[in-house]
Amino acid sequence: MSQHFTHQLAKKPLAAKKIVIANWKMHGNLKQNQALLTQYIAALSDLKQTKIVVCAPYPYLAQLQQMLQHTDIAWGAQNMAKNAEGAYTGEVSAAMLKDFGCEYVIIGHSERATAYCESDENIAQKFLQAKQHGLTPILCVGETLIEREAGVMELVIGKQLDTIIDLHGAAIFADSIISYEPIWAIGTGLAATPAQAQAMHKFIRNKIARLNQEAANRLKILYGGSVNPQNAVQLFVVSNIDGGLIGKCSLEAQAFEKICAAADSAI
Ligand code: 13P
Repeated sequence: MSQHFTHQLAKKPLAAKKIVIANWKMHGNLKQNQALLTQYIAALSDLKQTKIVVCAPYPYLAQLQQMLQHTDIAWGAQNMAKNAEGAYTGEVSAAMLKDFGCEYVIIGHSERATAYCESDENIAQKFLQAKQHGLTPILCVGETLIEREAGVMELVIGKQLDTIIDLHGAAIFADSIISYEPIWAIGTGLAATPAQAQAMHKFIRNKIARLNQEAANRLKILYGGSVNPQNAVQLFVVSNIDGGLIGKCSLEAQAFEKICAAADSAI
């Protein structure tokens, strides 16, 4: 077992009440991004207590830095290496992300975990790398439809969290983000109901709280999976849902603006 992460308590609390994160996935190009970001900047400057983050493919991080650096919108990447530096062809380190002003990084998204066989141990290593470099990790957890129908979703998510807890300790979740993303809800148009999301968010918060109450208080738990302007209104008023991780609807400026407005007015 590696040494547990020691958290510096005064460091960088996630102050915003809600957080809405755009996950562009593998979409966009320089021209489209410029148009979309211009619309984001115009539409999202009046939010009172909601933090907006854009997670783009690596090649566009410089563009995000250039366009967003004087705005309230933060940015980040969709993945990163588990190692700090070295002969790892094709990998991108936490320090490299920092070079381009990233404050956030998505870790363990199911689209990666499935397609690239990422293990819970790899994901735990990335989580630690992110924290050690002052990046806020956005850890994705979620169950398949078969697991939900079998009623084992808490076991599955519990195991995903346990790997990180066992390696690094529960304190590492202070000022971190967990995004509950049921795999059956991603890109399907079938979002979790507010009751399903609430139950899982409560399970996650309680699990961390039993080990470290302060870390649980300072953890943001987002929901992701087919969030749209309509269901966002119902989801964001639920206790324990601290915002959303938005795929498809983040590529449409008006839909994304409505989702962010729903988060801001749910406070
Ligand atoms: P959709 O919003 O397209 O379902 O994607 C959700 C997601 O994977 C966010 O990370």
